[in-house]
Amino acid sequence: MTVKAILSSAEPKDEWTYGFIKPWLGDGLLLSRGPKWVRNRKLLTPGFHFEILKQYAKVFKECAEELVEKWSRQCNEGSLEMFHHVSLMTLDSLMKCTFSLDVGCQTVKNSHPYINAVYYSVFLTIQRFTKPLHHSDLIYKYTSSGRNYFRALHILHSQSSAVIESRRKALEIEKAGGLIQKRKYIDFLDILLSAKDEDGDGLTDQEIRDEVDTFMFEGHDTTASAISWCLYNLAKNSEHQKKCQEEIPIFQDDLNSIPYLTLCIKESLRISPPVPVISRKITKRIDLPDGRTFLPGMTVSANIYALHHNKHVWDDPETFDPSRFLAENVQQRSPYAFVPFSAGPRNCIGQNFAMSEMKITLMLVMHHFEFSIDESKPPNPMFALIYRTEGGLYLHVKKRQPATLF
Ligand code: HEM
Repeated sequence: MTVKAILSSAEPKDEWTYGFIKPWLGDGLLLSRGPKWVRNRKLLTPGFHFEILKQYAKVFKECAEELVEKWSRQCNEGSLEMFHHVSLMTLDSLMKCTFSLDVGCQTVKNSHPYINAVYYSVFLTIQRFTKPLHHSDLIYKYTSSGRNYFRALHILHSQSSAVIESRRKALEIEKAGGLIQKRKYIDFLDILLSAKDEDGDGLTDQEIRDEVDTFMFEGHDTTASAISWCLYNLAKNSEHQKKCQEEIPIFQDDLNSIPYLTLCIKESLRISPPVPVISRKITKRIDLPDGRTFLPGMTVSANIYALHHNKHVWDDPETFDPSRFLAENVQQRSPYAFVPFSAGPRNCIGQNFAMSEMKITLMLVMHHFEFSIDESKPPNPMFALIYRTEGGLYLHVKKRQPATLF
């Protein structure tokens, strides 16, 4: 009930927690509030339409195949750290879906300044989050981490601005009847540049840059956490991994329909939610059904991780049991019992994008490999903006025999 009250209201984000990412994301969809958020959410929603997402399936497949190739070369060298490999892959697909840019994110010696800056900014943001002395802006900007962070932001912002400017120019040339090189699909940048409200007004360059940065941050680390934890949960529960592998050849023509794997993904998002906690600043009094009240000025958090592990909501919550997500079992639960993508007006705009990428990637990697736990390196989970581990998430990756791929 408390979670429902928090999520179903459109209260703004808590400035302290979200302040750590504000210098990077600016006033993009995740952090904006009031009429600006309402307008931009409406303008951006068509960008996540089913028909648009369909085009990205090819991109996800291409990026996952590159990961398969990489793991084929490395899988005999001991256990592999999942987060690093998977987040480079999700960044690769986001670069392609956002800008139609292929900068070779997944290559071992990748040194593209934009990719390095995204990676480094995430690392420094998490580091700052875990160091109380660095929380003050005044102190942070004089530390070496702070200086590196602002240097990385400069790279990120200048690169996005340059790509936006050159795409605007290309569109002008096209409008004037000139020839430009056609892209294979409509990417997020095309959608952001063509979005218009009822008055015919579009987004400014600054607004587009904030949205690009928001997608880049929200879209790659969360999905990487989801895929990495799902592989871990399936490695730990090998009977379910086997069932997923058995169904893959049957559903090979429909990359988005793999029923058993879909149940496992949902169960993994329950046990290991990539966004474990969200917070809101209360601006209007909210009376809860149990008699408690949230008053204006309060900061409240919805602990998604605790909700997904609450024994009053879930029977035997620590057990990995995908059958919880069979239709007949879902009907018996509140829609607010399972909220990995949040719920209500400020739910995740990218959830279908993320589900599609997860299904395609997991299907491909599980078709080629078998995953098992590395007992010598147990994970040390931590909440640092997203659900990750301190020191990595290691799994043994073994080639399946015979790998008869479609
Ligand atoms: C498994 C992957 C993902 C998970 C678990 C996830 C989860 C969430 C959650 C819990 C929120 C609410 C945050 C809050 O209230 O503070 C959110 C918001 C958001 N997500 Fe995701 N997300 C995922 C992937 C993505 C992707 C792929 C994109 C974009 C390409 C994306 C873009 C966004 C944006 C823009 C918002 C803000 C929406 C708004 O306030 O209107 N997310 N996400």
